[in-house]
Amino acid sequence: MRRARETEAAASLPTRHGDLEIHVFRLGDETEVVALVHGEIAGDEPVLVRLHSECLTGEALGSLRCDCGEQLESGLEQVGRADRGVLLYLRHEGRGIGLFDKIRAYALQDGGLDTVDANVALGLPIDGRDYTAAAAVLRRLGVRRARVMTNNPTKLQALADHGIEVVERVPIEAMPNRVNGSYLRTKARRMGHLLDSEPSMSSAPARNGHHARPAVTVHYAQTIDGRIAARTGDARWVSGESSMQLAHELRASHDAVMVGIGTVLADDPHLTVRLVEGRSPIRVIVDSTLRLPIAANVLADRTARTIIVTTPSATQERARAIRSAGGEILRAHADDSGAVEMKDLLRRLRGIGIGSLLIEGGRGIITSALRDHVVDRLTVCIAPKVIGEGVAAVGDLHIDYLRQALTFSSARFVTCGEDLIFYGEPKWEDLPQTA
Ligand SMILES: NC(=O)c1ccc[n+]([C@@H]2O[C@H](COP(=O)([O-])OP(=O)(O)OC[C@H]3O[C@@H](n4cnc5c(N)ncnc54)[C@H](OP(=O)(O)O)[C@@H]3O)[C@@H](O)[C@H]2O)c1
Repeated sequence: MRRARETEAAASLPTRHGDLEIHVFRLGDETEVVALVHGEIAGDEPVLVRLHSECLTGEALGSLRCDCGEQLESGLEQVGRADRGVLLYLRHEGRGIGLFDKIRAYALQDGGLDTVDANVALGLPIDGRDYTAAAAVLRRLGVRRARVMTNNPTKLQALADHGIEVVERVPIEAMPNRVNGSYLRTKARRMGHLLDSEPSMSSAPARNGHHARPAVTVHYAQTIDGRIAARTGDARWVSGESSMQLAHELRASHDAVMVGIGTVLADDPHLTVRLVEGRSPIRVIVDSTLRLPIAANVLADRTARTIIVTTPSATQERARAIRSAGGEILRAHADDSGAVEMKDLLRRLRGIGIGSLLIEGGRGIITSALRDHVVDRLTVCIAPKVIGEGVAAVGDLHIDYLRQALTFSSARFVTCGEDLIFYGEPKWEDLPQTA
C-alpha cells in the first residue's frame, strides 16, 4: 500500500540562539517553508513572528550589499529569547526574483542604478514575494495572534489579509555598513520600509517616545583597552578606513552632529560628510565660555551650519566675534558647575527642528549624555590596538557595583574592516535614576 506523501518534518535544533525546533512544510509541489520555533506557539497568546526571506549572498557569503545576514541573526536571536517565537525562513531569494536575476540586478547597480530601478530595468517585479504559504504555515502551527518583527508594512498587511491577527510591529534594525547605507535608504524612501536610522523623528526608537529632545546616537572609536585618544590627546586615527566611512554614513543620516569644545581644541575637526555620499549635518559645539578659536575648521569650512551652544556667562564680545566668523550662538542654562546643562541643550536643539543628533565625543560630552540617560543608541567602533594610558571613552557614571552596569537591548557586534562595531540601545528603565 502506498503511503500518503508526508507534508511536515520536525526535529529539535540546538542553535547558538537557543534550543529551537525546526519544522519543514511542503505545500503544493514546489514550496518548502522552514519554521524555527521557540516555546509553545499554538493558541491565543501573541507570538513573536519573523518572516525572513532567503538571501544566499547576505547570509552565507558575507555580502555587505544588503542587511539580510544581520536581520537573520537578529531575528533568530530575538526568537530564541522570546517565550513564544517563530522565524519562517521563506525561499524568496532576491525578493522573489531568484538568485540569477538578483545578480543581474546587482550588475546594473554596479553601473549606478538603485535596487528599485535595477529591477524595473530588467522588467522584474520590485518585490515579487507572496506570503500565502507563510500564513498557511503559521495557521498549521496554531499561531493566531502575531507580534511581527519587520520594517516592511507589506508583511503586516499580508498576514492580516490571511487571517492572522497582527497585534504589534516590532522593529528590526540593521547597522548601516560602509556599503549598504544607500541600499537601506532606498528601501526606506522607495519601498516604504520603516527604518529607524532615517534622519527624521522616526529615528527616535519608538518605545522611548521622546518628543522634547532629538533621538540621540552616541558614536565613538576606541582601542581595545577603552581609549578614545592617547595621553597627548592624539586621536588620529583610532579606527580603520571602513569604520571611518561608517562614521560618515552616520553623520549623513542624522540632522546634526555634536562634539564638546575639548574635541575641537584637540582635533580641529570639520565634522562634514566626505567619505560617503550624503548631506553634511548641522554642527553643534558645546562650549560654555566660548573658547572656540575663530580659525577653527567648523567655522572656516562653510559646508554646513555651525551652532555653538553656550551659557549665559559667555561674553557678548566673544559671541559677536564668533557670529561674524559665521557661527550661530545658542544660549542654554548652565548646570551647577557652570557647564551647559545637557537636558536643556537637547530641548533647545529640538526646538529649532533637530530631530536626530549624533554625539561624536569627546569623553566629557559622552559622559554627560550617558549620565543624564539621554542616549537612545550607542555605537562603538573597537579598533584592534592597545595604548595603555590615555583618554578613557567614558568618565564617572556614579556606578559602584557591576550589578548597576548599564546594559543594552538589541546588542550586537558586527565586523567592519579590521574593526568591530558594537551596537546597542541602553536599558535606562533598569537603572536607578540620578538627580
Ligand atoms: N576616538 C574618538 O572617537 C574621539 C571622538 C571625539 C573626541 N575624541 C578625543 O577626546 C578628547 C577630548 O575629550 P574632552 O572630554 O576633553 O572633550 P569634549 O567632551 O569634546 O569637550 C568637553 C568640554 O565641553 C565643555 N562642556 C560644556 N558643557 C558640557 C557638559 N554638559 N558636559 C561635558 N562637557 C561640557 C566643557 O568645556 P567648557 O566648560 O569650557 O565649556 C568640557 O571641558 C580629545 O583627545 C579628542 O581627540 C576622540
